[in-house]
Amino acid sequence: MSREVTFIHLTDLHIGDPATDDHLFNNTVDTLRQVLAQVATIEPKPSFLVASGDLTNRGDTESYALLKQVMEATDLPVVYAIGNHDTRDGFYTGMGIEAGPPGAPYFHDRVIDDIHIITLDSSTPGYIGGSIEDEQFEWLASALDTHPELPKLIVSHHPPALGEGPDDAHWRHIAYEHSARLAGLLKGRNIIGILSGHIHHDRVSIWNGVPVVVGMGQHAATDILRADVLRMVRGSSFAIGTIRSSGLSVAFVPLPTDRAELNVYPLEMLRQRAAAVPVAAE
Ligand SMILES: [Fe+2]
Repeated sequence: MSREVTFIHLTDLHIGDPATDDHLFNNTVDTLRQVLAQVATIEPKPSFLVASGDLTNRGDTESYALLKQVMEATDLPVVYAIGNHDTRDGFYTGMGIEAGPPGAPYFHDRVIDDIHIITLDSSTPGYIGGSIEDEQFEWLASALDTHPELPKLIVSHHPPALGEGPDDAHWRHIAYEHSARLAGLLKGRNIIGILSGHIHHDRVSIWNGVPVVVGMGQHAATDILRADVLRMVRGSSFAIGTIRSSGLSVAFVPLPTDRAELNVYPLEMLRQRAAAVPVAAE
């Protein structure tokens, strides 16, 4: 590629109404407005914006309509993925996106400024953990064959499982078996990186040679110093990505925060709600 391409990565927007949603803990509409105002100041202007799932907190149609309205503050092309807090049909209806059959996963691809962006739907309706249906794997295999000359950016709300086998933290990522299948499909392809969220803290991993970028997102942060519970504290960030012929670079932009505690979840509850797909270590 002959020039740099800059993009914005948002995730876990969790749009909702703090006046009626007692599980929101934050005015996410205000946060998103603040982030978009900052994005508008970035020079040179980014090519696109990725919002990698958990677009709303409750998955209700009204929250998507509100998201759509707030996002009018940016004129960048927006690539949406959906996450475990989203509902597929709520997303289609609220965003005014034409859907297939009810409950159909939302996966798609497009090319912007010579970057082939492939978006997966890692949500497992009704569960926390990530999974990818056969239908999507088949589609992904053919999508990867298109635009062979272009670098490919993968978007998936749940990041892939990084470990060597199934584990009891499946609620944090795409099921190990599906992650392994994904790794097989991506092997040898020109994958510039994977953009994810879900775990609510900034993290960069190299997974089978592919950078996996997880954003803290715009809702709340996990306290990564506490491994015995899931402790949520105030915190949000967004990221500015740059793609060069040498590869991907990502800079995180934190928003001011006091890191006040918002809620604490026992890990056992999260493990029980991980997924509908069997996970060996559960
Ligand atoms: Fe989230």
